[in-house]
Amino acid sequence: MDLGYKNKNRETEKLQSMSAQIIDGKTIAEEVNRETAEEVAELKEKKGIVPGLAVILVGEDPASQVYVRRKVKMCEQLGIYSKKVVLPTETSQNELLQVIDELNHDPSIHGILVQSPPPPQIDEAAVVEAVDPRKDVDCFHPENVGRMLLGERTGFLPCTPWGVTVLLEKCGISTRGKHAVVLGRSNIVGKPMAALLLGKGASGDATVTVCHSRTENLAEITRSADIVIAAIGKPEFLKGSMIRDDAVVIDVGINRVEDASRPKGYRLAGDVEYETAAEKASWITPVPGGVGPMTIAMLMKNTVRACKMAMNEKECREN
Ligand code: GUN
Repeated sequence: MDLGYKNKNRETEKLQSMSAQIIDGKTIAEEVNRETAEEVAELKEKKGIVPGLAVILVGEDPASQVYVRRKVKMCEQLGIYSKKVVLPTETSQNELLQVIDELNHDPSIHGILVQSPPPPQIDEAAVVEAVDPRKDVDCFHPENVGRMLLGERTGFLPCTPWGVTVLLEKCGISTRGKHAVVLGRSNIVGKPMAALLLGKGASGDATVTVCHSRTENLAEITRSADIVIAAIGKPEFLKGSMIRDDAVVIDVGINRVEDASRPKGYRLAGDVEYETAAEKASWITPVPGGVGPMTIAMLMKNTVRACKMAMNEKECREN
């Protein structure tokens, strides 16, 4: 008996029962990155300037180490200058603020990012405020958050939510008049995601509901959504039974789940139970390869924006 063949058939059956089209974040991010690399090359050639990004990591959180490495590597690939600053876990608030101040005054650095979460002795709000808003490529500074909330779209935009809107646009998924449900109210994803979807214009104009840990009847709300964006940091939280047929499902979660059968002892899981959600959704993002690569692609775009803004400011001052 050919068991291999039988297994293959079962795999095919499983795939066919899934109706969702996959939103290929990896390929879309590559497209965005190609455009960024062209912009970087043009800046170098025509203006003799190289965009620069400083990435600060305080401590040794393994997931943060991976993200920081990826950001630095992407800078290299696109021709962006990068400066990685790794500080020990016990770094004090003042020491970190001093490093940020130096980078704020460094003309070779156009963007500054402090990887979140920092160790508990660090006041994250104070750190966010210490970054020069003109170099705030994360779009975490209250000034930039405010501008984004008021509808400005030409300055910095928050990397992950912006990446989600680009995915939707590239797949031709309109948000106009649709009920978008955001799961999670974090400052990094949930709140700015809701703000972008609520804003006017392309990838906005949605009717937005934000659900969180205290929301009652959550499944009832998610089942009424045309678009669900899961950003709650709970592995496989959103099940197929919690969405309606043909919903668009965007999974922002990247969770490490213990798995002794894997070489690293863990596997990556999103906030969505992929198999059951994919059976009902019209579109779905995978984890990995969905939203993750977009966050980095949008960070690179913000860095180039920061460089161009600095250049314009300098030219204005000189003329
Ligand atoms: N931690 C998780 N996501 C992010 C991000 O987009 N920026 C920073 N600085 N830290 C993060």
